[in-house]
Amino acid sequence: MTEKWLNIALPKGRLGEKAYGILEDAGYDCPQIREESRRLIFESEENRVRYFWVKPSDVAIYVQRGSADLGIVGSDILMEYNPDVYELTDLGIGRCVMAVAGSKDYREDPDSVLRVATKFPNIARKYYSGIGREIDIIKLNGSIELAPILGLSDVIVDIVETGKTLRENGLMPYEQIVPVSARLIANTVSYKFAYEQVTRLVRAVENVLRERKEKR
Ligand code: PRP
Repeated sequence: MTEKWLNIALPKGRLGEKAYGILEDAGYDCPQIREESRRLIFESEENRVRYFWVKPSDVAIYVQRGSADLGIVGSDILMEYNPDVYELTDLGIGRCVMAVAGSKDYREDPDSVLRVATKFPNIARKYYSGIGREIDIIKLNGSIELAPILGLSDVIVDIVETGKTLRENGLMPYEQIVPVSARLIANTVSYKFAYEQVTRLVRAVENVLRERKEKR
């Protein structure tokens, strides 16, 4: 029986390129993807695999709805949107932390409602309800660091990778909420009906991760 094509959603950008590097080493290469281009879909007839570049926060949507069988997504997105997908493996790339940050001289007033700017309202709400702090969420879509500088919020809840963005804007991390890394996820139906193909890919990926770890 000929195998079905596996559709894989990759997050556009540096994380997606790293993730593709793992899949390439695992034997799921598609050389055209390395060529500079604006194309969004790439196929390898030989490996029966089709990759597409999507906005990182959209990967789980493609996978949940079955347009992609598999995808690579940050655990921050999984926590925030809680999509109905299977999480297969931690790729150990795209490591960063979800943190509370703010200006160096900000002094919190426990009697007032804390204004929190973030791209991750659900994560922020859960964190603050866990510590019993009343907050007002200000949902932004990027450049979150601007909010406390311009007085739009008291603090931010955001991803910190190197800490450079915070430092260069005179901010500092206060609390770590949760570590973040990239995960391989699967559509629940594809997992069932293409079980062998999917598990073969997962095993190959895990071997690559093991080999890379041993080399370090
Ligand atoms: C992310 C995050 C921080 C920055 C952290 O932003 O929101 O701004 O990276 O990285 P660092 O600790 O290495 O400086 P992203 O590049 O996704 O842009 P945006 O949130 O402004 O869209």
